Amino acid sequence: MISNKVDKILPSFTLQMTSRAAELRSQGVDVIDLGVGEPDFNTPDNIIAAAKKAMDDGFTKYTPGSGLFVLREAICEKLHRDNSLSYNPDQIIVSNGAKHSLSTCCQAILNPGDQAIIFSPYWVSFPEFIRLADGEPVVIPTFSEKNFTPDFDQLEKQINPRIKLMIINSPSNPTGAVWDNETIRRLLSYAAQYNWVVISDECYEQLVYDNEFQSTETLNDAGANVITIQSLSKTYAMTGWRIGYAAGDITIIKAMSKIQGQATSCANSIGQIASVEALTGDQSEVKMMKDAFLNRRNKMLNRINDIAGISCQTPGGAFYTFPNVTHFLGMEIDGKKIDTSFDLSDYILDMAKTTTVAGAGFGCEGHIRLSYATDEKTFLEGLNRIETSLMKLKETS
Ligand SMILES: Cc1ncc(COP(=O)(O)O)c(C=O)c1O
Repeated sequence: MISNKVDKILPSFTLQMTSRAAELRSQGVDVIDLGVGEPDFNTPDNIIAAAKKAMDDGFTKYTPGSGLFVLREAICEKLHRDNSLSYNPDQIIVSNGAKHSLSTCCQAILNPGDQAIIFSPYWVSFPEFIRLADGEPVVIPTFSEKNFTPDFDQLEKQINPRIKLMIINSPSNPTGAVWDNETIRRLLSYAAQYNWVVISDECYEQLVYDNEFQSTETLNDAGANVITIQSLSKTYAMTGWRIGYAAGDITIIKAMSKIQGQATSCANSIGQIASVEALTGDQSEVKMMKDAFLNRRNKMLNRINDIAGISCQTPGGAFYTFPNVTHFLGMEIDGKKIDTSFDLSDYILDMAKTTTVAGAGFGCEGHIRLSYATDEKTFLEGLNRIETSLMKLKETS
């Protein structure tokens, strides 16, 4: 009854972890959720007011498939103001979150059997977008010792004529790593040389702490075909509003619009009007949230690196840390062995009542992802609990 396509893809296990935490909470268990993938702040008031006004003003109907013109203009203004990028509204598509733009873009580009390069640790949805578009992910590993930057020897080994696409995600979910400009320029030169489209997932672009964020397209001297994808979700604490967008080559944007028009018609009208206010109105809350995340990052990092057996690189962006927990793999408790990061994450949930996300789910064993999109008191308590549970593990005899 169910298609082969469904069998080919994995469910979103980050969403599963969130559901698991919610389920335990509903049973009265005091769970600390360090698996969260969304800001704990509320959407700023000016955006909420704009949404209420949009309803009163009658913006309750379908919009053009690729988004309201006024929003596409506001996106162009934002891309120019914040990212020094020049696009016109015809080169923009508004979708139901960046996730939807990413998925539609893969469908617009890939034919059955085409390959797409992603870098591990990868955001869980990247391989599935590619599989849903009948493509094959080609995973290039990156490592914490090298700050999760790509290894170009590994990349070169994989080059073949079936590759049509490469996805870049800096700052990254799950590692928080921000790639330097030279690395991105080098990737773009491969893409230009071999004619790969580059999707640059920039949904954490406003959460870069130690350097100035540089949009991939601004580094594109090589002339690769770059589709820039950004989102209102993380920047404006608007995850539930489902508004994201893509900007780039008009042929690809039109192809995406054709697919989107048949799949969902358009993104929701009220969210689109509210997004105009988000992008063009007062930006002070964006700065407030970024400052808070930076402060939390430093506190979380210090605390993690205090725990014996764990080490963590400084993540330059997003709101995740991705510590190395290899030391604990192979240990045991009460005859039960902890072999993988999935086992460790399960054990931490059982023993410490704290959710984390196993690195293996992001294609990177030996790590767990911890989010600081939660208040300091809560995550410090979670880390205390994690430390206590880890200290109970014993070397296998
Ligand atoms: C790397 C990355 N891209 C895209 C998204 C999706 O964002 P949106 O809410 O705009 O669909 C997420 C959300 O977690 C993400 O981490």
